[in-house]
Amino acid sequence: MNQQAKHALSVGAVAKRCGIKVSTLHFYEAKGLIQSQRNQGNQRRYHPEVLRRVSVIKAAQKMGINLADIKAAFARLPNNRTPNKNDWELLSQQWRENLNQRIETMTQLRDSLTGCIGCGCLSMNSCPLYNPDDQLAAHGTGPVILNRSSEQT
Ligand code: FES
Repeated sequence: MNQQAKHALSVGAVAKRCGIKVSTLHFYEAKGLIQSQRNQGNQRRYHPEVLRRVSVIKAAQKMGINLADIKAAFARLPNNRTPNKNDWELLSQQWRENLNQRIETMTQLRDSLTGCIGCGCLSMNSCPLYNPDDQLAAHGTGPVILNRSSEQT
């Protein structure tokens, strides 16, 4: 048995170490985000680097980056390798603008939830001031004020 085969991980071991379901690993593999080899018994075996790769995927997903963007970012790495520290910095730079926009939108959402959002309910004390007689309905559907501020980001 060579060194690489000796340290190869089963799908169950990777799932346990990463804290995700086996089906999630299969899904990531089907999407081309991770790769496995087959052993002689035709079972999936993963290089230990997959732990870092899955961790990066999970971290990026937590930040709201979708799988297609994660895959595209991975594809820009040399030889489609598992991201190292420098690569991760590069990836996070690419996602920085996207993250900044999300932070801005979340901040506005947080700050506007206690005031009138222009939804037509007229139930808050501030509604007569910001949306008298639901005049904002003429400008669109949904929470018009909230939508406006998220469109500006
Ligand atoms: S919060 Fe709904 S119209 Fe003001």
